[in-house]
Amino acid sequence: MRFIKLFIVLFILQALLAMASKLPTAPKSDLFREYIGAEDNNVKFTDVPINPNVEFHYILAFAIDYTNSSSPSPTNGEFKIFWDTHNLSPSQVNSIKSQHGNVKVALSLGGDTVRGQACNFSASSVDSWVSNAVTSLTKIIQDYNLDGIDIDYEHFLSNHDTFVECIGKLITTLKNNGVISFASIAPFDDKEVQSNYLALWKSYGHVIDYVNFQFYAYDKGTSVSQFMNYFQKQRKNYGGGNILASITSNGKGGLSPKNGFFTACRRLKRQRKLGGIFVWSADDSKDSGFKYEKKSQTLLAKHHNHSSF
Ligand SMILES: *[C@@H]1O[C@H](CO)[C@@H](O)[C@H](O)[C@H]1NC(C)=O
Ligand SMILES: *[C@@H]1O[C@H](CO)[C@@H](O)[C@H](O)[C@H]1NC(C)=O
Ligand SMILES: *[C@@H]1O[C@H](CO)[C@@H](O)[C@H](O)[C@H]1NC(C)=O
Repeated sequence: MRFIKLFIVLFILQALLAMASKLPTAPKSDLFREYIGAEDNNVKFTDVPINPNVEFHYILAFAIDYTNSSSPSPTNGEFKIFWDTHNLSPSQVNSIKSQHGNVKVALSLGGDTVRGQACNFSASSVDSWVSNAVTSLTKIIQDYNLDGIDIDYEHFLSNHDTFVECIGKLITTLKNNGVISFASIAPFDDKEVQSNYLALWKSYGHVIDYVNFQFYAYDKGTSVSQFMNYFQKQRKNYGGGNILASITSNGKGGLSPKNGFFTACRRLKRQRKLGGIFVWSADDSKDSGFKYEKKSQTLLAKHHNHSSF
């Protein structure tokens, strides 16, 4: 009799385990990311507060495959560094990483403009672009001891297929070569931008670890309920992806802290939908003392830490 009871208990346990393994896994939720270095205002890694209880990524902005001449032109995948290399140098990367075990550093490709001119994604052929991009980026990533890349093209000359194959093959090759351990994309809600990134997601979503969706590209007056709807819409678009909520510290757009950004993030976290938070940018936050960075990290921290944060 006892034997049968044990049998039934085991049977039920097994059924429960089988059910649990089929539940969708919650996104990684203690990830904080911040773009740094695009605006030449002397911001340093050490200026930004780092909470020891989050996973922290700096994203160097930007590496660009355009020349820096008076009339910029595409270099077919030969990337050059356009961030502030004086304040964000290889030795400063090594120093911040050795001081904080929870810090990783990535670089972002594309960016917006060189000297006011749109940096359109453009490739002569998939193979030549990928080959040049792998060579030039591998050198930069190894020189700076970086861990990942972010894709942030916002203008497009070539068709979807070229963008998808170039970027998909670039990420795949860098991962297979052990040069990077993670990759993210940074789309926003614009017809042309979304059509390119959704096509990339469809074919290469399996090599993309995070979606840095630029929610601050929505209107400045965005409300909490609008934001929740936008987030839900992008979770559907990038199905199965780790979607990060985002904020800009330049005061330009999206749901602001004043209008409830952190309320929305807490709600998403409770619903186990929040893949992290990122901020554009450290350069803009410097003057106001990084208060949103502190608040974001407190919200994300694994163990609640009520001290200085
Ligand atoms: C709480 O945060 C402070 C400030 O970063 C840090 O010095 C302290 O070690 C943290 N405490 C715990 C228990 O993580
Ligand atoms: C681009 O060129 C301008 C003018 O020569 C220079 O001031 C700037 O530092 C250059 N930027 C990069 C990233 O090389
Ligand atoms: C880049 O694309 C934009 C439209 O997205 C266009 O206005 C601009 O002229 C293009 N720039 C170059 C250098 O082709």
